[in-house]
Amino acid sequence: MPSLSDIRQTFLGYFEKNGHRVVESSPLVPRNDPTLMFANSGMVQFKNLFTGVETRDYQRATTAQKCVRAGGKHNDLDNVGYTARHHTFFEMLGNFSFGDYFKEGAIPFAWELLTKEFDIPRHRLLVTVYHTDDEAAAIWKKVAGLSDDRIIRIPTSDNFWQMGPTGPCGPCTEIFFDHGDSIPGGPPGSADEDGDRFIEIWNLVFMQNEQFEDGSMRALDMQSIDTGMGLERIGALLQGKHDNYDTDLMRALIEASANVTSVDPDGPGKVHHRVIADHLRSTSFLIADGVMPSNEGRGYVLRRIMRRAMRHAHMLGATDPVMHKLVPALVRQMGAAYPELTRAQAMIEETLRSEETRFRQTLDRGLRLLDDELAKLPDGADLPGETAFKLYDTFGFPLDLTQDALREKGRGVQIEGFDAAMAEQKRMARAAWSGSGEAADARIWFELADKHGVTEFLGYDTEEAEGQVMALVIDGAEVAEAAAGTKVTIVVNQTPFYAESGGQVGDAGLIRTETGAARVADTKKVAGVFLHQAEVTAGVISRGQGAQLAVDHERRGAIRANHSATHLLHEALRGVLGEHVAQRGSLNAPDRLRFDFSHNSALSAEEMTRIEAEVNSFIRQNSPVETRLMTPDEARALGAQALFGEKYGDEVRVVSMGVHPGSGKGADGAAYSLELCGGTHVARTGDIGAFVLLGDAASSAGVRRIEALTGQAALDHLRAADRRLGEIAGILKAQSADVVNRVRALADERKALANEVAQLKRQLAMSSGGASEAEEVAGVRFIARRVEGVGGKELGALVEEMKASLGSGAVLLLAEDGGKATVAAGVTPDLTGRISAVALVQAATAALGGKGGGGRPDRAQGGAPSLAAAETAFQDARKIIEDSK
Ligand code: SER
Repeated sequence: MPSLSDIRQTFLGYFEKNGHRVVESSPLVPRNDPTLMFANSGMVQFKNLFTGVETRDYQRATTAQKCVRAGGKHNDLDNVGYTARHHTFFEMLGNFSFGDYFKEGAIPFAWELLTKEFDIPRHRLLVTVYHTDDEAAAIWKKVAGLSDDRIIRIPTSDNFWQMGPTGPCGPCTEIFFDHGDSIPGGPPGSADEDGDRFIEIWNLVFMQNEQFEDGSMRALDMQSIDTGMGLERIGALLQGKHDNYDTDLMRALIEASANVTSVDPDGPGKVHHRVIADHLRSTSFLIADGVMPSNEGRGYVLRRIMRRAMRHAHMLGATDPVMHKLVPALVRQMGAAYPELTRAQAMIEETLRSEETRFRQTLDRGLRLLDDELAKLPDGADLPGETAFKLYDTFGFPLDLTQDALREKGRGVQIEGFDAAMAEQKRMARAAWSGSGEAADARIWFELADKHGVTEFLGYDTEEAEGQVMALVIDGAEVAEAAAGTKVTIVVNQTPFYAESGGQVGDAGLIRTETGAARVADTKKVAGVFLHQAEVTAGVISRGQGAQLAVDHERRGAIRANHSATHLLHEALRGVLGEHVAQRGSLNAPDRLRFDFSHNSALSAEEMTRIEAEVNSFIRQNSPVETRLMTPDEARALGAQALFGEKYGDEVRVVSMGVHPGSGKGADGAAYSLELCGGTHVARTGDIGAFVLLGDAASSAGVRRIEALTGQAALDHLRAADRRLGEIAGILKAQSADVVNRVRALADERKALANEVAQLKRQLAMSSGGASEAEEVAGVRFIARRVEGVGGKELGALVEEMKASLGSGAVLLLAEDGGKATVAAGVTPDLTGRISAVALVQAATAALGGKGGGGRPDRAQGGAPSLAAAETAFQDARKIIEDSK
């Protein structure tokens, strides 16, 4: 009996030998389609090949594609577990032709594979075609020899395949397997077609149209083929089973579930095991493709599926988290075909364990509340919407989980009440919003959030993605389009652009649509809506268009390095300065980082050196930077650094990096740095490149501010400093290593020379006069002189020398040096009782247009604007001496 792995291989091998390129499954999160939540069929990754927008070096391809159908047009979540063939995750086998063969090729391939390779008896097969498709009917007749009653014409959309509300589409032909009359049910198109006798196994789509949002459709230039066959269905058939969950692969997962819960896989707990097996696959593959549980968008779909599985595990009586224990069984079954699953195994287990631990804290209480409320209701009545909302809001029960729980009791939820309670909560959140002074303008963003939902951020995993333009806003008002030269805020449904928060600046980059391009200068967010602040640079951008969003890679790379370096810096500061260091603010810009932290004194050169060295040692360690989601309490228990006084939601991202030397452990409990952070980070610490501290300064009382550079900016900084040093060495004609000694020697020499010069100047002044030039004023020998080239300090010494040469008398000296005038006076001790040097200085200063001056009676000094009135100053001083008689 072939295993599912064998069947996958036979399929791909058959088409490979028929000229098809075997192409890997694309990730579950489509990179090329903003309108689609998850890859829901094999053709998604080829969408642009069908429409002719893209070409590749092959025209025929075959894939086994990972698919999730749990939201949007193709949503199977509600039925999973209760039916034989519904899954949230499944593999779709497909063959594709891009303008190569069409119906005449696709039908014979399918027929040959089924009847020859898979050896399915021909009389068990029948087909449907779109009611107007005579061509397909004729080919079937010719190739398979099917009688007319086995080629059923279907007039409904069942035989017209569409990927979603927009995109390539076309009529299809479906191949059915007849399980025989022991099973009730009629052929497709009959009244009892919903029975289980006739099962669709393969859908061949004749891609020939493209559907647009406004409802119009155009014929594609080329005719192509897209086929899809669920591996689980064909597997069941070839393994002689009627139920997909009885195939080898699904059975192995069900048995793993039975083992960890010790509950019979086929007893009354059967449905629960099936739900768990299916949801294990979708959640694990989604996590492997970068989706993390959250309360928005894809993350919320993941959370809903996870929590649904967890409730079923709880119903099986499991008292501890079980989902993570099933991951090894899944990896054994599918890890070889999908290596990404093996690579992400640890992260999948960790995410499931943490989510289940958290959810279990409220699950019991929520279920009890549900039972109490049901007991109050009349028999069979639906649950009031407000109760379902309370379960959602307080206990983390997604609506479909509550519906699933009620389904077993044959009841539903009053949806209107739930919607009303949700709307009321949003209204209150809006009323409570206090933004940064833009409250009046903010209304429009709340309205957009209500209308289109919040923006989904894709930028943790990618810097380029497609989004859909949901709104264009100019000066607070929505517009339908914006033309070149206009400044406009662009809102899209999903974006790789990071919106400014947590100290990390918003991203810049480019947004392109079919008709125009815009340069984004900054990105902010209000009410969960990302605001791309842009200027249209070419053409026109219109609401509703698909858009290519590309973050400025170099700029983001630099921001990322700075942000990760900030985490290492924070830890190094705590290590070197002490545990009292706490973050008070930060800026992670492309050109530098800034970090404010609590600390009382300036950092010494030695502390700076140690901090810088420690950060650089963890950069060189080049250990992976890891991000996990957990509750704030779990994060604190791990020792994560959180911002004091910050309010966190019920889950937080914890970024860990660096390994303590010698601990031998990865970035878990032993991580060097562990911080709550929503920012974007490097993949490995080595990506930071280098780290240079620029210096620290006081920011406010008890808070220091440090600036630093990383990567190329750090190297540029060091290079520039080195170049300056080289220049200095050149001037000194010395080696760089000798520069410090040489400069110190020069400074000493200069000081000595300056002293010598001052002394010489005094000598010069003395030699040109002294006692010999004294005049007699009222019996006092008085020297009044202007000296050149002597500074304030030397003037005092000169006054003393002149006093000594006089023996008895008074001195008044004026000097001008470097644009500053100085007045100095001295009186010998025998005369200070009669004349004060202070009075002489003050009189002279006043005469020179200055004010003040002071000292002692025997010596005083002052300053003045200039010496223009020097003669008056001397005159006024003489007058004081005369008056003292
Ligand atoms: N796109 C079609 C489907 O999903 C055929 O692959 O059924």
